[in-house]
Amino acid sequence: MWDVLIDEQRIAARVAALGTEIRDAFGDDPIMVIGVLKGSFVFMADLVRAIPGPVECEFLGVSSYVGTESSGAVQITHELRCDVAGRHLLLVEDIIDTGRTLDALQRALEARGPASFRVVALLDKPSRRTVQVQVDWTGFTIEDLFVVGYGLDLDQRYRNEPFIGVPRGTLDR
Ligand code: IMP
Ligand code: MG
Repeated sequence: MWDVLIDEQRIAARVAALGTEIRDAFGDDPIMVIGVLKGSFVFMADLVRAIPGPVECEFLGVSSYVGTESSGAVQITHELRCDVAGRHLLLVEDIIDTGRTLDALQRALEARGPASFRVVALLDKPSRRTVQVQVDWTGFTIEDLFVVGYGLDLDQRYRNEPFIGVPRGTLDR
């Protein structure tokens, strides 16, 4: 059903490297890692274990996608339960597509007065961008392909695949 685009070994190696780079950038500061549900939960679980030193884990929920197309409107489905004022934030996204979700979240979080705001995304599809956003770390840059696995879904399924995959045959076209 799926062809592997990025296998488990490549993901693990990249996540390990990101963890080290992220800790270097934050110095000794405690990092408030904020995962965007649901797509980031698998990546975040691995990423926080690759970041040495003080880390706190929080989550916020958004939804914008139905099937393979964004509905455009970003809805917060689960609010943060913590105060982010004065904290060093690292937002964890599964994938940056149009940029609308990140743009909305960045505005919402920066309005709450954090000490700093940085973003890590597992995947980036820059060719799809409609809103310019800054992403500090990217796991992998990919073409305009719909991907599933490692947390990413198609109508809520396939999040549990350990690899990042595309529908069978997509890569041969
Ligand atoms: P954006 O607001 O258009 O940047 O969309 C970001 C969200 O759309 C991501 O957090 C994903 O949940 C979803 N998304 C975008 N592309 C894909 C994909 O290829 N597979 C699965 N979900 C995707
Ligand atoms: Mg999704």
